[in-house]
Amino acid sequence: MPKTVSELLQARDLPELLRFADGTPVTKDRWGERRREILGILQENIYGVTPPPCPVEAEITATNERYCAGKVRHDTVRFTLHMPEGDHSFPLQLFRPAKAEPSPVIIHICFRPDYPDRYTPIEEITDHGFALAMFDYRDVASDDGDFTNGLGALTVGNRERRPNEWGKIGMWAYAASRVLDWLETVSGVDASRAVVTGHSRLGKTALWCAAQDERVACGISNDSGCGGAAIERGKVGETVARITTVFPYWFCPRYASYSDDVTRLPFDHHFISACVAPRLCYIASAEEDLWADPASEFLAAVAASDAYALLGETGLSPVPEHLPIAPQHFHDGKIGYHVRRGLHYYDREDWLEQMAFLEKHL
Ligand code: GCU
Repeated sequence: MPKTVSELLQARDLPELLRFADGTPVTKDRWGERRREILGILQENIYGVTPPPCPVEAEITATNERYCAGKVRHDTVRFTLHMPEGDHSFPLQLFRPAKAEPSPVIIHICFRPDYPDRYTPIEEITDHGFALAMFDYRDVASDDGDFTNGLGALTVGNRERRPNEWGKIGMWAYAASRVLDWLETVSGVDASRAVVTGHSRLGKTALWCAAQDERVACGISNDSGCGGAAIERGKVGETVARITTVFPYWFCPRYASYSDDVTRLPFDHHFISACVAPRLCYIASAEEDLWADPASEFLAAVAASDAYALLGETGLSPVPEHLPIAPQHFHDGKIGYHVRRGLHYYDREDWLEQMAFLEKHL
């Protein structure tokens, strides 16, 4: 007999989400305090400390009102972060459906500057009524151990990072929040219905952005796995030891100190999705993506639901007795989940599932 979801969760022996670090039980009234405590734990131990918001500036450098045969207005934007240490600019693409009422907006943190792109079905997204803002993550800070470019240069430079100093995921997530600062001022966009999404390392980034930024109405993690949505204790595929060896610069240096024993982690990854509560959160898995570990992603969705229940909301729903088998989705509660067939990829099917969830709840 395969183990039930609750047996599997019990075996993971997770740290308690609904107890303060000093052991006091968390009540509904004190969830905000607990959420801030968790964000502090995540900053200190995995992603590093996030600086306060900085002023931003957006200059539209080109406009095409006839994109997708006139259905969409496309603006190319030179986006600037005015950090206390100096300025950093990067290109941003904004696509708005040509319709009278303001559109909910999806911020897609992308792997490439290309549009359309194999991970971003722009016409399909705008046909569903969403505006789309997208930027190439490497234009914010390079995806390597070099901290002398982009936001890295402004905040770290050549010196060694402190144990709790932010890594590249923190920087990319920060940029997505600053893009939202601007979108709040853009006509045709309803920034009260803002979604942040990304795939894989950028799924980790989107989730971290949504955990911290309460203006994000829905955070979507696509196949984010280790260091993202997936529960770490008992995880198969990629582990803390492996990810901090190959990609140490994604995280704060302290994360690597848990490599030899993840049971010492003062959190597990359901804490991250729980910080999105009571807002919408979506976790997507692919059946053959064993490196990310769909079971550990699904168990995180179930475990994070306790925060929603505390707040009188429903997280993942319905919770099945056994792990889901692809293709299957759970769209009834405020935590959405699906597992599709196939490999690690940001698939059109992922987008369609996620947009169906957004259309239902946003
Ligand atoms: C590697 C890495 C993963 C990451 C993935 C990606 O496979 O080990 O953690 O999610 O790259 O971003 O594509």
